[in-house]
Amino acid sequence: MTEKAILILGDRRHELPVLTGTEGERALDISKLREQTGLIAYDPSLGNTALCRSEITFTDGERGILRYRGIPIEQFADKPDFVEAAWLLIFGRLPRREELAKFSGLMTANELLHEGVRHQFQHVPPDAPPMALLSATLSNLACYHQEFFSLGDEESLEEAATRLISKVRTIAAFSHRRSLGMPFIYPDPKLRYCANFLHMMFSIPYRQYHISQEVEDALNLIFILHADHELNCSTSTVRIVGSAGANLFASCAAGVCALWGSLHGGANVEVMEMLERISRGGLSPEECIRAAKDKTNPFRLHGFGHRVYRRYDPRAKILKAACERVFAGMERKDPLLDIARKLEELALADPYFVDRNLYPNVDFYSGILLRAIGIPTNMFTVCFAIGRLPGWIAHWKEQHDDPNTKIQRPRQIYTGPNELTYVPMEKR
Ligand code: ACO
Repeated sequence: MTEKAILILGDRRHELPVLTGTEGERALDISKLREQTGLIAYDPSLGNTALCRSEITFTDGERGILRYRGIPIEQFADKPDFVEAAWLLIFGRLPRREELAKFSGLMTANELLHEGVRHQFQHVPPDAPPMALLSATLSNLACYHQEFFSLGDEESLEEAATRLISKVRTIAAFSHRRSLGMPFIYPDPKLRYCANFLHMMFSIPYRQYHISQEVEDALNLIFILHADHELNCSTSTVRIVGSAGANLFASCAAGVCALWGSLHGGANVEVMEMLERISRGGLSPEECIRAAKDKTNPFRLHGFGHRVYRRYDPRAKILKAACERVFAGMERKDPLLDIARKLEELALADPYFVDRNLYPNVDFYSGILLRAIGIPTNMFTVCFAIGRLPGWIAHWKEQHDDPNTKIQRPRQIYTGPNELTYVPMEKR
């Protein structure tokens, strides 16, 4: 029997069905609330609202769990294959060898940018923010792929998805080269996904960048750990834009814009700036913690806290271990890692952070690892976007395939003036 909740409003009782997810998460189904009661629900930051039912990613903030299509994130830590994780997220199960080979082949075949897209990079200021370029260029790709505006079957979805996932790294690397005034390095079809990105970022025409296995694996891991995180701000954006019938390119470009925000994907840049400031002596770790606790100061301890996780973000745990591993392998140190460890130690011993369940999130250690790989700070959020793209595509597809999908259109509680009369200019 379906569980029901009773809402008593005045002298009337209303029954609201309770929905249960496969992991036992329960939700009040209020989809008929307005129709039945005339009321709407008020949930300004959507922290209590499920936008959809989804089979892609499961998170449990209380228990620190993250699973892609049922597989715990920890199981991806030592088998880094971002392309395989992308297929899993998009198509719902682990790919067979030939399926993965086809997917990879499509990516290799589509790694170049149309010359028209490439020329776009010449017409922006050299200091153009790479996230602005990324969202503009993803949107612009739609001009060259109008055949994918309507995706009727899995085949055409795969064609569009592989173009996006492949070209995003070319776009990212070109925007980096452009900012340095360096020649573009074209993709090399012999290289694997991450190695190819590193090659386009760091090779120069007369010297091939040497890609160490350690660095390639670290980047793979970063991309995998960012690949999906259910209904976060950028993914909900992709879904909302997609619900209007917008094509995959436009929807993902909107996701990039949302991710750019400093409270979302931009947080790892803020973390690095904070660690660098401490390293330069501008602030001690203790002062930093004090500032984060001071309610008159808007400063927050970047890389700490999460809307979902009330425990250690499982991704942060994996990244912290990866940082230790990579630095041990490189036989060098990064003073920022020591500062991060110190901040974490201070915060986790402080009642302010403990009482509010504020722990390191994915951004706390990802910047240090990206820095070890050689990625400049202004490219951190772009790397997050490269990683997150399969998740956005998976959500766009899930919604697109759902026959019950409607345009998403929240309501508001209007608090403006009641009816007024227009006053002509000369009488104001
Ligand atoms: N430093 C100091 N205090 C914090 C922090 C922080 N990093 N995060 C939350 N708090 C405090 C809040 O001030 C609030 O205190 P109060 O109860 O006394 O008012 C309490 O903890 C709850 O915080 P909320 O803002 O309600 O938490 P919310 O779930 O809305 O925000 C967020 C989550 C945005 C991630 C927040 O923790 C934050 O700003 N963190 C820093 C930015 C960051 O690292 N973002 C990356 C998130 S991960 C990602 O997007 C990939």
